[in-house]
Amino acid sequence: MDKGIKAIIFDLDGVICRTDRYHYLAWKALADKLGIPFDEEVNQRLRGVSRRESLEIILGARGGAYSGAEKLAMTEEKNAVYKTYLTAMTPEDLSPETLAVLRALRRRGYLLAIGSSSRNARQILERLGLGDFFDAVADGTQIARSKPDPEVFLLAASLLGVRPGEAVVVEDAASGVQAARSGGFRVIGLCSADHDPGGEVSVEGLSQLLDIFR
Ligand code: BG6
Ligand code: MG
Repeated sequence: MDKGIKAIIFDLDGVICRTDRYHYLAWKALADKLGIPFDEEVNQRLRGVSRRESLEIILGARGGAYSGAEKLAMTEEKNAVYKTYLTAMTPEDLSPETLAVLRALRRRGYLLAIGSSSRNARQILERLGLGDFFDAVADGTQIARSKPDPEVFLLAASLLGVRPGEAVVVEDAASGVQAARSGGFRVIGLCSADHDPGGEVSVEGLSQLLDIFR
């Protein structure tokens, strides 16, 4: 990456920690109860997307059959299940590799931030022992539009005092890659065996960042 890069903005769910799995399990419980098909393929489309928009994707054409109040109750039910997973999290849920990479990037002089659509982001960071770690946290409680809108990344950059062109976003979601691109950020996609979000550079694990940000 260029010399002009000053900051790295990380997505949270699925990048810093495995809470993407908990989102999946909580939505799956709701979908099963409603008798709606839900699988990993649908789940990929929920990455980075707000709670309410995720519900609309899951309901699809069935969405018209439910009132706004019923949909609100469904998102609350999903979030309650999701939170039961969060309350069981401890600093052990932060992988040693991730912690080592974050510390090394800080030692190398980069500003580090979170840019997450989640309204639970701060609780998760606290649970992981990262409550005070990042130089800025922009999350779902501070934005009007979730990814693929760039709002959360623009807020993170502004909190850090850098321009979008001076920051790189690390994302596991196609919606997040799109958000970063439309905000004018460089973007690294975190891939897994069954999912590649795109991005100008792809990595399979965060330790590869240490080869990119020297
Ligand atoms: C994103 C997740 O980080 O946050 C999405 O990738 C999730 O799956 C979104 O829907 C909102 O999260 P929350 O915790 O506010 O329901
Ligand atoms: Mg994510």
